[in-house]
Amino acid sequence: MSEQKTVYLADYRPYSHVVESVDLTFRLHPTATRVVARLSLRQNPARKDRDHLRLDGEGLKLISCKLDGQAITPAVDERSLTIAAHELPDGPFILETEVEIAPEANTALEGLYMSKGMYCTQCEAEGFRKITYYPDRPDVMSRFKVRIESDLPVLLSNGNPVASGEGWAEWDDPWPKPAYLFALVAGDLRAHSASFVTASGRPVDLNIWVRPGDEDRCAYAMDSLIRSMRWDEQVYGREYDLDVFNIVAVDDFNMGAMENKGLNIFNSRYVLASPETATDDDYYRIEAIIAHEYFHNWTGNRITCRDWFQLCLKEGLTVFRDHQFSADMRSAAVRRIEDVVTLRSRQFREDDGPLAHPVRPESFVEINNFYTATVYEKGAEVIGMLKSLVGDAGYKRALDLYFERHDGDAATIEDWLKVFEDATGRDLSQFKLWYSEAGTPRLKVEETWDNGVYTLTFTQKNPPTPGQPIKHPKVIPIKVGLLNPNGDEVVPTITLEMTRAKQSFRFEGLAARPVPSILRGFSAPVVLDRKAPPEERAFLLAHDTDAFNKWEAGRALAKEVMADIALKGAPVSPAWLDALAAVTFDDTLDPAFRALCLRLPGEDDIAQTIHAMGRIPDPAKIHAARREMTGALAIRLGEGLSRLYKDLDDNAPFSPSAAQAGRRALKIAALGLLSRRDGGKLAASAFARARSMTEEVGALSALLEVGQGQAELVSFAARWGRDANVMDKWHALQIAHAEPAEAAAVAARLIGAPGFDWKNPNRFRTVIGALAANHAGFHHRSGAGYRLVADWLLKLDPLNPQTAARVSTAFETWPRYDAARRKLARTELERILAAPDLSGDLREMAERMLAAG
Ligand code: PHE
Ligand code: ZN
Repeated sequence: MSEQKTVYLADYRPYSHVVESVDLTFRLHPTATRVVARLSLRQNPARKDRDHLRLDGEGLKLISCKLDGQAITPAVDERSLTIAAHELPDGPFILETEVEIAPEANTALEGLYMSKGMYCTQCEAEGFRKITYYPDRPDVMSRFKVRIESDLPVLLSNGNPVASGEGWAEWDDPWPKPAYLFALVAGDLRAHSASFVTASGRPVDLNIWVRPGDEDRCAYAMDSLIRSMRWDEQVYGREYDLDVFNIVAVDDFNMGAMENKGLNIFNSRYVLASPETATDDDYYRIEAIIAHEYFHNWTGNRITCRDWFQLCLKEGLTVFRDHQFSADMRSAAVRRIEDVVTLRSRQFREDDGPLAHPVRPESFVEINNFYTATVYEKGAEVIGMLKSLVGDAGYKRALDLYFERHDGDAATIEDWLKVFEDATGRDLSQFKLWYSEAGTPRLKVEETWDNGVYTLTFTQKNPPTPGQPIKHPKVIPIKVGLLNPNGDEVVPTITLEMTRAKQSFRFEGLAARPVPSILRGFSAPVVLDRKAPPEERAFLLAHDTDAFNKWEAGRALAKEVMADIALKGAPVSPAWLDALAAVTFDDTLDPAFRALCLRLPGEDDIAQTIHAMGRIPDPAKIHAARREMTGALAIRLGEGLSRLYKDLDDNAPFSPSAAQAGRRALKIAALGLLSRRDGGKLAASAFARARSMTEEVGALSALLEVGQGQAELVSFAARWGRDANVMDKWHALQIAHAEPAEAAAVAARLIGAPGFDWKNPNRFRTVIGALAANHAGFHHRSGAGYRLVADWLLKLDPLNPQTAARVSTAFETWPRYDAARRKLARTELERILAAPDLSGDLREMAERMLAAG
């Protein structure tokens, strides 16, 4: 591998040329595809100098090159093709190149590759340069015409279909776009079709393309697409802008899905669903990802990013939009809680370790390594804060202005903030720190009660992160409500705007000292450092009118109980058990909410909390503490659990609705606890009777957790062995429920099994990801977890560096642990770095992680 260079935001310069239009011809062949690219070029008037023409290109075999029809011999190296300035005409000119590539040999799944006989592309972020010579940067936008020649029956590209015949098809995309949005698909595919008429009356053909046999598992994805299209019209006033919208499901894909203009490409696990094969969680994710990719058509495609440092411009905003959509489609409260759980387990974890970086980074080596929880999830939170600060009406004005002013642009975070400033008159210079400074702020709270005046004083601490030792106070919207001691709300939710390091807010005219409900709806991505007595947490769990904070009170209590058990060997708190029992059996509450309350904090989350207390987490003790709490809960909830289970175990015909999913979630939570009492008897019969994958997996999981379920594993495999996406659940469950000392061995056995396709990213992530997620197993003191993950990263890296690098984040928390574990982890990271021919992707990750220790 050639040495990769660090790229800096500060070095941005517009490209030397403008690409007026692109004509691409593909003659598809597994080992020798020919790509002819005809670029209409002229000098960029935004550049004063007269520069050479440098096109990106990697792994291409140049067959020919013509400038205005004349054959030339350009300078070519491993990464580019260059034509000297003095060889270029003064006016517009045409450059035509022909290259040869081998899609079948492309295991990195970037550029043009093959998956089970079908051709497909992935160009974000820098994959187009593996297809042809081109200025592969998002600020170069052009009109693409594509001709595909192949014997395969279905030939797709971006835009609208123009013409087709035996063995060929032509596509024309009228919307200028950057190369990362280019896509091509060719295969023996079947369509699940529907139609849509936009608000202004434009008819659109919708197709979801899948392998033969999968057509009957596309209905939910199609329904989600139609609802997304309608929602974006109604809520953001954004209409679709082509005659067709195509989605293709592919089995080999590095990420979740990709928003290519008019031709979204999806990891098949986020398209295909039927009650027998998809869990409720799968249904939710399909809906959310279909929406996400569709919403990119405006936030990402019509308005794209000037450079990859601005990635959060499209991703943070599009995640924010898909969260809004899911909240509208489902329960807003449940969605908010789930989103915060994810934020904490992925983004807070990232922010707290060696890989911490700002929402808008200022340098990178490999851009693929910056598709992170910080850019996506924190990027969305930052927009949520902005909306709280300017209000719903201000947000709407700003977004309307954004679309009006920047349609067709490759924009920046400065542009984004400017529309908010112009639309609302607000100065956002301090707010911008959320984009430039990494790390999760910690918020301390003091209260005083004096003669009817209640005062809340907040102190914010912004911790140092790698490369950013000094931080500044942030603007923090803190939503607060006050309850009186009877549990009535005396001050409904208001937004306090904190801008200084320390700041007080007074409340007057109260009859009694109130109980505060702080950071309602999780109004800012911060850690609230507030000691509260267990009684107060229990009080809020019972009475808070804000659903998020109601849940959060129980969550905070559970975390304290778990940390006390792990650190001090404390007994399981009866106050926690009583409070949770009250919620579990409160039939006035949404079953989905009750199920969320019954889900105990994760072990990694507790390790993060203990680390923040300045202590060293012991994974074995945390694991034991969590088990002890579950056991005590099963006893405390007693007979009521069986009644609850029976009430929820109805015969209603299956629907993937949020309401029914909530009932199933509570039923399965009850089943898990009941299994601790009956050794899995009920779960075994629930498995046998299961009518949906949610129930099947729920019962199997309950069985495995109590050391049962071997026969059920066999029957599951017999039933689903041919469906790899379903079998991912079977693999993940076994690793998730393995005893810590055995987790690595279980994972090793599964990934090494004959016929297991570990080169497929879904398979690899399932097994290695499940091991990394088994906290006590991955961090087992033997070091077997670390060793196995490193072994497999090294095996995958030469084939698929992008996925290897992503999965390597398993190690990002290693500096938290004791000296013996740190030594074991360090050894593995050093072993990775010592590998000959290590990819730039994995090298950057390992180096950044090691730098912290
Ligand atoms: N842009 C995609 C999304 O968030 C993610 C992606 C990035 C997919 C890079 C593939 C490669 O929707
Ligand atoms: Zn996205």
